[in-house]
Amino acid sequence: MTNADFEKLVDTSDEWIVSRTGIRERRIAADDMTSADMAMEAARRAMDMAGCTHEDIDLIISGTVTPDYRLPSNSCVMQEKMGFPNAVAFDVVAACAGFINGMSIADSYISSGAHRRALVIGTEKLSYFTNYKDRNTCVLFGDGAGAVVLEPCDSGSGVLSTFMKSNGSMRSWLWSKVGGSRNPYMADFAFDGSDKIQMAGSEIFKVAVKEMSNAAATVIKDAGISSDDVSLFVPHQANIRIVEAMAKRLHLGMDRVFLNIHKYGNTSSASVPLALDEANREGRIKPGDYVVMVAFGGGLIWGSALVKW
Ligand code: UT7
Repeated sequence: MTNADFEKLVDTSDEWIVSRTGIRERRIAADDMTSADMAMEAARRAMDMAGCTHEDIDLIISGTVTPDYRLPSNSCVMQEKMGFPNAVAFDVVAACAGFINGMSIADSYISSGAHRRALVIGTEKLSYFTNYKDRNTCVLFGDGAGAVVLEPCDSGSGVLSTFMKSNGSMRSWLWSKVGGSRNPYMADFAFDGSDKIQMAGSEIFKVAVKEMSNAAATVIKDAGISSDDVSLFVPHQANIRIVEAMAKRLHLGMDRVFLNIHKYGNTSSASVPLALDEANREGRIKPGDYVVMVAFGGGLIWGSALVKW
């Protein structure tokens, strides 16, 4: 969907959306394509790239807030459809930080020796969860999925440090009020958008800039390197102004920050793996490079990871 499509739906303009967010287009999944379907496509491509089989995977973690079912997890849906005979599969509900939190969990499990090879996914069908009558939110979100395979290595490369943090006191700044056991759907539900994404955008904006900057700085410090050593920053793509403000706080030129928000909008947990994959395929990441990923989302929750490629 382009910004022109939204001009027909709500009182907005291409000029407002581009200047306030950096978004020009987003991808909307077909009606019969679910978040697990997208995740499976991403998983297949990641396993092809890693040269591993379904038997090799013993851990599947999907970050998603838009699973196919409330029960079971998307990861178990994938396991049933694709067949991972040796894996344990579960989801992480950490909104836009879901992929990075999944990576952090997988890194800990692999480092401890409990698991050997993990498939970590970020997948969202946010279009199902978006109120297309609310101009404050509808122009922002898109659908997508991305995945990585993680395994042990001895070369000094890989995940060097991760960081996760949350603050539940701001949970209603980005939430979906109706549809859970606190506020179940009732027969007289008004379809007023209260079961879709609701967001206090400008409040979140300030916290996102501060905490994404802190999270990025933390993993750099923990890995014992300096931000000058980092070749590429791959941030959550929620708003180009958030990313630019973060870069300014970290004294980074935008030439070291990967952006693809103009094509996809905010895809929540899919945002970082989509950006990482595009950066890699475009040759922006070379062996030995330090890459920092950082994300922030509803919870509020945020996290970061530093990898040596
Ligand atoms: O994914 C993880 C978490 N989410 C985020 O990180 C998102 C963080 N927040 C944001 O990205 C930005 O706050 C938004 C893009 C959501 C909004 O941008 P803003 O610069 O903070 O705008 P605002 O909410 O302060 O609204 C400014 C004006 C308002 O009009 P008035 O009250 O000044 O007359 C809004 O009603 O812009 C209006 N507005 C729009 N106008 C045209 C809000 N949405 C739109 C729109 N088109 N789509």
